Amino acid sequence: MPVKTYVRLAVRVRLSPHRGKPLIDVSGKRYWYFLFSLLIIIPGTVYLILFGLRPGIEFSSGSSLMLTFQNPPEQGVLRQAMAEAEVGDDVFGEDPTVNRLQARAAEIFGREAALFVPSGVMGNQIALRVHTQPGDEVILEEASHIFNSEMAMMAAFSGVIPRPIPSERGWLRWEQIEPAIRPKVYYYAQTRLICLENTHNFKGGGVYPLEWAREIIEKAHERGLAVHLDGARIFNAAVATGRSVKELTEGFDSVMFCLSKGLGAPVGSMLVGSSEFIERARRVRKMLGGGMRQVGILAAAGLYALEHHIERLAEDHENAQILAKALKEIPEVRLEPVETNIVIFELAKTSAEQLIVELKKRGILALAIGPRRVRLVTHLDVSRADALSAARALREVLG
Ligand SMILES: Cc1ncc(COP(=O)(O)O)c(C=O)c1O
Repeated sequence: MPVKTYVRLAVRVRLSPHRGKPLIDVSGKRYWYFLFSLLIIIPGTVYLILFGLRPGIEFSSGSSLMLTFQNPPEQGVLRQAMAEAEVGDDVFGEDPTVNRLQARAAEIFGREAALFVPSGVMGNQIALRVHTQPGDEVILEEASHIFNSEMAMMAAFSGVIPRPIPSERGWLRWEQIEPAIRPKVYYYAQTRLICLENTHNFKGGGVYPLEWAREIIEKAHERGLAVHLDGARIFNAAVATGRSVKELTEGFDSVMFCLSKGLGAPVGSMLVGSSEFIERARRVRKMLGGGMRQVGILAAAGLYALEHHIERLAEDHENAQILAKALKEIPEVRLEPVETNIVIFELAKTSAEQLIVELKKRGILALAIGPRRVRLVTHLDVSRADALSAARALREVLG
């Protein structure tokens, strides 16, 4: 159809009668409605679509999220990075942002390769599967996340059994591990892997003594055993000790760390290790349905977190000390040592549930990890002012 005819047709449609009146009546009010919509409504809608409705960018400062310790300006910048991420199909290894994140993680940890995974649990379970055979045994600490909070997946998915060993702060010593290693007798399950956790979540966020970990790695390797690190919060350990994550994780056969949690990305964890380990891990990730497509939008948050959110973990540790100081002064509280961003305490009279309800009313989220045992965690969204007000709330409820 020639252009002229097309234009004429379009005009005819617009000028067609509307409930008996012409839509554009140049002489009446309808003309002004039409002009108004052209000048205000249409540009306004276009502006909202382009800028106001981008996923995740917070425009309203009065959102209820702020009251529960969110930090919209910081989250806004991170989400901007996500919105602008260059993407490709990561199942084919073609997502440039994922590739950049993996290369950066490998570089930071001084390893050959890294793999982006949706969660810490998946990262740990992939590592277990790669390191073991069905029927093997895995030595780990009794309160470790892998043993307690990953739904027996080591048995369900890898067909291995755990050999949990108790400890006071979540750190095993070689002297405890060695007697638990199965003799090489054919009718025993064979010990294949040792898993350590640094920092230890449910025993208070303490930093694994480096010399203890190094001794375990060395002796385990002499015995032909692999050692995996659940380093969900390894950056907290690095900031607390002033050592690099590379130094803290040297010698481990694989390391999982989280981009979420303290680093502040909304989703995602990483596995780092040798190229061979990562290639096998990629296959297992796919088995678990963890092969994602244009996942660069999530990787962009991880890259942003690695570049901008590491040094600031020191603020979380300071804020945890504010809470610790308040808790130490409350007679019914028995506070466990606080080294990083996790604060765990036991209550003498009040139940954990009672305290949690009272704190929630004041906008503070806490976790019951026993009938009278409570965990508080400081992170990117908790400012110093928030920590001070949480300390006041704890005194008010328990004091
Ligand atoms: C020590 C440790 N490992 C692994 C995980 C699992 O991470 P995700 O929640 O991303 O699966 C957690 C989660 O809290 C953790 O604390």
